[in-house]
Amino acid sequence: MMQQTLLLSIILCVVGTEAFSVPSMTKTSLKQYNPQHHQQSSTLFMSSFSADGSEYASTDKDYVDDDIVEKEKFGPSFEDDVSSDVVEEKPVPMSKNAGNRFVAVVWDAEVDSEGRDSMELHEDRDACVEDHVLFCRKRNLYNETFNTNSMVDILRSLPLLSADLQRIVGHAMILESPDICHVKEMLAEEPFLKALNGGDWSKINLFRWRHIRDYTLRRDDGRLGYPCMMFGIDHDPETDNDSKQIREETKDAFMEYLIKSERIIMAGPLHMPTEIKDDPSSIATGDFILFNAKSREDAIQFVEEMPTSAEGLYKDLRVHFYNTLDITGKFISEDPMRDAPNYQMKEAMKEWGYPVEDNETRWLNW
Ligand SMILES: *[C@@H]1O[C@H](CO)[C@@H](O)[C@H](O)[C@H]1NC(C)=O
Ligand SMILES: *[C@@H]1O[C@H](CO)[C@@H](O)[C@H](O)[C@H]1NC(C)=O
Ligand SMILES: *[C@@H]1O[C@H](CO)[C@@H](O)[C@H](O)[C@H]1NC(C)=O
Repeated sequence: MMQQTLLLSIILCVVGTEAFSVPSMTKTSLKQYNPQHHQQSSTLFMSSFSADGSEYASTDKDYVDDDIVEKEKFGPSFEDDVSSDVVEEKPVPMSKNAGNRFVAVVWDAEVDSEGRDSMELHEDRDACVEDHVLFCRKRNLYNETFNTNSMVDILRSLPLLSADLQRIVGHAMILESPDICHVKEMLAEEPFLKALNGGDWSKINLFRWRHIRDYTLRRDDGRLGYPCMMFGIDHDPETDNDSKQIREETKDAFMEYLIKSERIIMAGPLHMPTEIKDDPSSIATGDFILFNAKSREDAIQFVEEMPTSAEGLYKDLRVHFYNTLDITGKFISEDPMRDAPNYQMKEAMKEWGYPVEDNETRWLNW
């Protein structure tokens, strides 16, 4: 089969520290909260090497039998402290907003209402990162009694990188909500879109997403490469490249291809954003796939050889490497070596009364 032309904008992947850095905390959003300086951790570094003051020296007495016995005590039959109480864990509760997944994808240059150039767009976006993260966290932190008016879970927020990895050119969000009207209300308030065009969600790519939740399609984020997003929109049905027919014909091969690749993070077809989930007019109209790629060439090859694209299913196919914003607050690490803005945000939210501890936000396990 001939290789068809693809509308492919693809991003080179080198982990640029710039691309992954978060701007340091400004005083704007957290001004109501005045944290005492976060206590420096007083970790005691202990090592047998330092006992005699020489870092790399060791003597036989450092290697007593006890250490070896200690090591062997790991493994399936390892038992320790058998007297401790057994705690029965309850199943992790579903989020109150679970049920319908949505994907919203924005390319800044396509929705900008002020004619900014690419560097201005990047800088304006950069200035909103903290507001965006705070916005998303507030939406995600609720329980039966607190912040119950939050009707959309923001599962992922992924800034999309330019080809040279020097700029952010847009972002993708994976959302969950009982009703699409809540999604639209949320998008109208979201800081990035507000800065771009005043919150006009009708200009962006919004779809229902049938996320295929199978463990074979759930590999570690970027463990075998760098995380990459594929966004493909089908040709219209009943044209030369009838999407309905191609989807039907490539269904099994496509799934097999994704599973065998062992590089999928999340995948599933995009459906029309109908008001009701089971509306028959909510047909599949594209694919949204997060996967790992070792390089730009690797990503292009993976996408081009996909049975769907090889059969000419997509009229618009884009691939971007992306960053991940920590919008749940669950993945922050306390790093005394730098000003950790995420940690301060967590402290501030706790101060404002939000439930932030792991055991208080158990539904946030995506
Ligand atoms: C339609 O599909 C064929 C392969 O079956 C492909 O060669 C062609 O480029 C596709 N047309 C478009 C406009 O993508
Ligand atoms: C919900 O969160 C608030 C704020 O953290 C807390 O005061 C309240 O006890 C929580 N309610 C439940 C039912 O867990
Ligand atoms: C949650 O964990 C915190 C810190 O470990 C603990 O202080 C608190 O009592 C726990 N709360 C519940 C409801 O288990």
